[in-house]
Amino acid sequence: MYRTHHCNELRKSHAGTTATLVGWVNTVRDHHGVIFMDIRDREGVTQCVFRTEENADATALSHSLRSEDVVQVIGRVDLRPEVEGKSTLNSAIDTGEIEMVVTGLTILNKADVLPFQLDKELSNEDLRMKHRYLDLRRPRMSRNLRQRHLITKAIRDRLDAAGYIEIETPILSKSTPEGARDFLVPSRLSPGKFYALPQAPQQYKQMMMVAGLEKYFQIARCFRDEDLRADRQPEFTQVDIEASFITEEDIYSLVEDLLAAAFQASRGVEVSKPFPRITYQEAMDTYGSDKPDRRYGTEIVDLSDVFATSAFKVFSSTLEKGGKVRAINAKGFATVTTGQVKRLEEIAKEAGAGGLAYIKVEGGEWKSPIVKFFSDAEKAALTERLGIEEGDLVLFGCDQWSVCCEVLGRLRLEVASMCGLTKDMDDVLDFLWVVDFPLLGYDAEEGKWNAVHHPFTRPKAEDMALLDDESKWGEIRAVAYDVVLNGYELGGGSLRIHESDLQSRMFSVLGISEEEQHAKFGHILTAFRFGAPPHGGLALGLDRLVMLACREDSIREVIAFPKNNKGIDLMSQSPGEVDFKQLRELYIKSAVQEKKS
Ligand code: AMO
Ligand code: AMP
Repeated sequence: MYRTHHCNELRKSHAGTTATLVGWVNTVRDHHGVIFMDIRDREGVTQCVFRTEENADATALSHSLRSEDVVQVIGRVDLRPEVEGKSTLNSAIDTGEIEMVVTGLTILNKADVLPFQLDKELSNEDLRMKHRYLDLRRPRMSRNLRQRHLITKAIRDRLDAAGYIEIETPILSKSTPEGARDFLVPSRLSPGKFYALPQAPQQYKQMMMVAGLEKYFQIARCFRDEDLRADRQPEFTQVDIEASFITEEDIYSLVEDLLAAAFQASRGVEVSKPFPRITYQEAMDTYGSDKPDRRYGTEIVDLSDVFATSAFKVFSSTLEKGGKVRAINAKGFATVTTGQVKRLEEIAKEAGAGGLAYIKVEGGEWKSPIVKFFSDAEKAALTERLGIEEGDLVLFGCDQWSVCCEVLGRLRLEVASMCGLTKDMDDVLDFLWVVDFPLLGYDAEEGKWNAVHHPFTRPKAEDMALLDDESKWGEIRAVAYDVVLNGYELGGGSLRIHESDLQSRMFSVLGISEEEQHAKFGHILTAFRFGAPPHGGLALGLDRLVMLACREDSIREVIAFPKNNKGIDLMSQSPGEVDFKQLRELYIKSAVQEKKS
């Protein structure tokens, strides 16, 4: 037996008993020849004392202890003594009332000096990732992984109780048009052919509905080769759900239940239900985002009617071309620095704006190069609509609707971050459903229509007729919904098309020829002919959910072995090179290797 207790277990009531602990040397200090060592395991720490009079050999050996050595200690549990009339209790740790007086020490393994200290926050993320096994020893990281376990378990239990069964789907699968680039795996047995790693188990879960399984879920690994960000990894985990004979209302209440259970399990808090709902249109108009953070205001205000005949040509000419003039009022942010204005301008331009018009209200004056063009009526309307007061900063967006949304949505976020509006707001849980997403979006660059969610998403019954008229395709709404928390898209789903004809029609709308439909989606079109039930579902991003529950701001903090933003695992150095022979077996020639040789 390695141990009798873990390192966060011994209490006053154990005083006088003998215990054995194992773990890592957290700290050692020499106090006039008496060695104090804190031993740590994943549960916590216990103070151990080595005194020559108790055990000379162990005490002699203890002089050689270094941080992170792995040790086993046996000893007597003592109440912490008073020293020179002062208590030595340590209320900062749970075991602070006792200490172990060591009578036996075994060094199980020595540790070299670590590349970084575990008790300090480390800003060098590359170093953390290179030695991730050390990074994970830190209490915060180990807590995050245990939170992940608790959340996953709570969700599993809830789904099980609701009659959902967990079924695995293939990892070596066929490309699903989920919107991102696929990771491909060459097949040795079928030369020249490739598997795709699933971007989501979408088609499989729908096939399970055709199979009559009715209620499916999976804690599913998904793979997407896309640009990485703090909330995006090339491989991530979904709580993937699908059910037959289900309405969107059933899905909302199931998911609200799951998220409440998750926050109950992790933070012990009650989440209020049902979640508020807003339409996609409202979300874009008011927040410039389909995943709005509504913990602060700074809402977008439309001013198009105000400036229709304005002398300021940038505004009036955009309006003539069917564009919009909109603005946000960053309350009290007239203190914005020149550098910050530059940054805001950059963001606006990245988002597609021609420039950034703004007004600073300082000393009773509107400071801005553009106000000289404004009439008194325009100024009065601005003041009234935006509630402009001394000290405010007004930022304008002036462009086509979608660019306006993008620009002001991003400016709204940036201003909130510059002003620290969400600081100390981690405990505010603003859950929200965004509903009535558009079915289709036009990609002007490619000159084609794309599915906003995915091609299996059902158009709203009342908008179905619009499919007959291409000029109306942009107006078709889908039975698609996202669940949002504090500005993060936690999950998304839809009711699906279950009719073969409608599915084929949808593929045609997306520019997929009949031949291609047959080649890529023949299995679906065929399956839907054999009695496919009405069905729908949703997938939650588990990593994002755990990140928010843990109050972290990157999903890398809640994934044991994440990739960096170049998709590299710095610990194992993957992706790595492979032998020429391995490639030959797969009938693959590497352009990179050829170039090198
Ligand atoms: P969707 O593509 O919206 O839907 O994905 C569902 C959720 O998965 C999370 N997510 C990610 N998390 C981390 N890294 C990524 N790269 C990443 N991409 C997505 C998000 C997102 O809301 N098959 C559909 C679901 C359905 O229709 O049932 C799907 O995958 O939190
Ligand atoms: P100009 O008349 O081009 O000097 O622009 C006057 C102000 O309007 C400047 O502050 C510009 O940054 C801003 N501006 C110009 N074009 C746009 C646009 N498309 N959207 C928003 N602001 C703009």
